[in-house]
Amino acid sequence: MGRFYITTPIYYVNDAPHVGHAYTTVNADALARWHRLMGDDTKFLTGTDEHGQKVADAAAKNSVSAQEWTDVTSQRFREAWDALDVSYDDFIRTTEDRHRETVQTFLSAVYENGYIYKGTYRGLYCVSCEDYYTLESSDAGKCPVHGRVLSEMEEENWFFRLSAFQERLEAHYAANPGFVTPETKRNEALSFIRGGLRDISITRTSIDWGIPVPWDEGHVFYVWYDALINYLTAIGYGRDADEVATWWPASHHLIGKEILRFHCVWWPAMCMAAGLEPPAHVQVHGWLLLRGQKLSKTMAAEGQVRLTDIAPTTLTGEFGVDPVRYYLLRETALGNDGEFSHEGITHRYNTDLANNLGNLLNRVATVVGSKCAGIGPAPDPHSALAGVAREALGEARDAWESFSPQGGLEATWRLLSATNAYLEEHEPWKMAPGPQVESVLGDALEVLRLVAVAASPAMPGVSAAIWSRIGLEGTPVERTFDESVLWGQYPAGRAVLKAEPLFPRIRVDA
Ligand code: MSP
Repeated sequence: MGRFYITTPIYYVNDAPHVGHAYTTVNADALARWHRLMGDDTKFLTGTDEHGQKVADAAAKNSVSAQEWTDVTSQRFREAWDALDVSYDDFIRTTEDRHRETVQTFLSAVYENGYIYKGTYRGLYCVSCEDYYTLESSDAGKCPVHGRVLSEMEEENWFFRLSAFQERLEAHYAANPGFVTPETKRNEALSFIRGGLRDISITRTSIDWGIPVPWDEGHVFYVWYDALINYLTAIGYGRDADEVATWWPASHHLIGKEILRFHCVWWPAMCMAAGLEPPAHVQVHGWLLLRGQKLSKTMAAEGQVRLTDIAPTTLTGEFGVDPVRYYLLRETALGNDGEFSHEGITHRYNTDLANNLGNLLNRVATVVGSKCAGIGPAPDPHSALAGVAREALGEARDAWESFSPQGGLEATWRLLSATNAYLEEHEPWKMAPGPQVESVLGDALEVLRLVAVAASPAMPGVSAAIWSRIGLEGTPVERTFDESVLWGQYPAGRAVLKAEPLFPRIRVDA
């Protein structure tokens, strides 16, 4: 049993959450739930990133104060995560006092260690990215991500001496091959480092919506320099040394690929500058695409999609909470881009949930009803399915342990397919009541028990429903995965509920 601290990026509150944000959060949630199931001491952090120009502009556009704007929008993220059954342990807002204190303590340490100096910044900036560009890295003066003309900036600022960390970062990557996964993203970060690092302007005088620089009144920190430190605020940096020692550096940051440089280059260097170890691991994922383009607030603003159509709460209303979670986890491997569509969710729902899992549950309940008077029999300790289950769940375990919810679910669903095939082969619905039919049905009930455990990080509600329908007490997550998945624990003598299908098929018009 170990310790597992997982974080999502903190989301900008310039607008409402969409399914792209849900992709990261649901993956982080499933991984947190997996580690709890493994018996690991787990902490799962998410939250909102509330400072900076972009958020200040959004508030001004809506004629409210920045604080009022962030209060309302941050709440919308909480609501979305509640609707998706996200089990975060802490929700951080960067406008909280605890965060201001940690940022000031952390950056004062960096300052005292000699890595912050005063200079003049002249260059290009994209407010949508909250990021700097040079003429060479821009698209002829436009932002390569947002296509907007970049603003020219000239300010006297404080700079972080990122250039001093090139060798130390390279050494860190060499000594920690698993620091960034997948490998392609690790290589991308490393080649950025090898390409040479420039110092970064980390304060602003042009805006005041930010955390004040403790040693220079009138300056606030650049939003990224405040935001990254949230991962330490939540574990009490500057306030509780024991708490920090408990969770750091055993930390895993799950992030989208567009914020790789901040997390894989700037952040480890900032930690080193403050005299702290870098986080253990950054897991990078790809984008959900809509017709080949990154699904984003910008797309919605341009009228290419309605924000309500891609709002997490709209989708959960349409398909149910766990089907949306399942789709997000199962469809796209962490690291790849994936096309998002309502047709895609419908297809996954009908194929994997209604046909495979739902079908098994309904069939078993029906036949237990007709052949065993509704009372579940025990599995055969030597069933052919026992080996299949051991293998599939062993693979599922390895996949979850290596940050692959998709692989975990794929392996679990192989067990379901094998069990449906097993029923097709034995046709218990044609058998006479007696020990033979009981053993086949007991095996199928045992598989349902195992699947309720193995699918619980992805579909907590559905897993609990299966658990109680097959007559089990408590919940599928009361014991650790390793204890639960040993074959043969389904007890005989429990009433198996025959009820409405958990996943009524969605009709698809041809
Ligand atoms: N505030 C910064 C992060 C600071 S972390 C210290 C930020 N916020 S964001 O709201 O723009 O996006 C955050 C994350 O949302 C992305 O890194 C990514 O994980 C997720 N996604 C946003 N759109 C997405 C898709 N279309 N697809 C997948 N993930 C997406 O950047």
